[in-house]
Amino acid sequence: MNQITDIHMHIIPHVDDGSGSLEESVIMLRSSASQGVGTVIATPHSWAIDECGCEHVLSQFDALKRAVSEYGIPIRLYLGCEMLIFPDTADECIRKLNAERYPAMAGSRHVLTEFLPDFSRRDMEFCVEKIASAGYVPIVAHAERYEHTTVDGVRMIRNLGALIQINAYSIVNEPKAQTRNTANRLLSEKLVDFIGSDTHRLNHRPPVIRDGIDALAALYSEEYAELVSVKNPHDLLLKQWNNAL
Ligand SMILES: [Fe+2]
Repeated sequence: MNQITDIHMHIIPHVDDGSGSLEESVIMLRSSASQGVGTVIATPHSWAIDECGCEHVLSQFDALKRAVSEYGIPIRLYLGCEMLIFPDTADECIRKLNAERYPAMAGSRHVLTEFLPDFSRRDMEFCVEKIASAGYVPIVAHAERYEHTTVDGVRMIRNLGALIQINAYSIVNEPKAQTRNTANRLLSEKLVDFIGSDTHRLNHRPPVIRDGIDALAALYSEEYAELVSVKNPHDLLLKQWNNAL
């Protein structure tokens, strides 16, 4: 079985701005499997859960799981979400987490958390503190993409209880220099905990993760690449399923 876990994929069809059909999801997951991915956490946007309803998301997720099994794709699928949070919606977000309307990552207490691109450092810290004080661990999604992300700022939110995810393509393939440089600064300071593809569709952020993991191994170390793509997901997010693995 493949060892890599992709913790960030908009792979559930007809839910958000990700996969547009079951067929597209199957093609994308086949591609992931061919790159060494054995586990995927499906992370639909929280705004889409609000728009189309939990029941629809769950039934689409079940349909995807059935298709993965029928087509014999060697990938285990778990549910999560990418929770968009603002300072003034933090309490409501936590209420929805507690009600399991927003699914935490694979049934753990970790929550993939997204901010707006121009969020101030203070707003990020406020939201991280709110989530952590409610007993959850925020995993900041694609931390390299926020305008105000700095090494010091990331150190601070980690101290407040956050973990950090970067997108695989940001390491070498991202055309925007600021984003690429931020991703690499965070990696050189060992401030990254997870890597993900943030796959949306075949023609928009396709499921490419192997390039980034290989670049990480070549530029930093094999051990670090293994930590963020295999070990941390396994130990922190999938622990409760380990007996079944
Ligand atoms: Fe995303």
